[in-house]
Amino acid sequence: MKRHWVLAVAAAAAALALPAKADTLREQAAQQFQAIPSILPAVHNNPITKAKIDLGRALFFDPRLSASGVFSCNSCHNLATGGDDNLETSIGHGWQKGPRNSPTVLNSVLNQAQFWCNPQEHMAL
Ligand code: HEC
Repeated sequence: MKRHWVLAVAAAAAALALPAKADTLREQAAQQFQAIPSILPAVHNNPITKAKIDLGRALFFDPRLSASGVFSCNSCHNLATGGDDNLETSIGHGWQKGPRNSPTVLNSVLNQAQFWCNPQEHMAL
């Protein structure tokens, strides 16, 4: 019984110690962010079909998309490692290193913006 009382006091103390700011921050975040939808929205009236998914998968893993024929999207956005390459900055053609690391591509269809800097960096593969 005494142990329960001690736990209740500890929980109340913890609740009091929680800054009110945390609640405000949580409310702001809840207004700004939403749960990831279980069904992806069509982008610009371009509905998702199985054929498009299959084509996207094939292109994503195809190194022929790079000038060198060595890199696929999966080289830097490795789906087996969370959609990125876990490197400080990605390695490109001829062992060049770019100025940025690879962000994950997981759920990137839902991003409000893609490629915050020079898209040319992407082309020099
Ligand atoms: C040599 C490494 C490399 C390869 C190969 C590569 N990417 Fe990227 N990717 C990057 C880097 C680095 C960025 C970040 C660029 C920036 O922030 O300007 C990026 C950014 C992105 C983003 C934006 C993600 C975000 O959160 O804004 C998407 C989407 C993406 N790449 C998809 C692809 C696709 C699709 C391919 C294949 C056609 C591909 N990438 C090939 C390195 C690579």
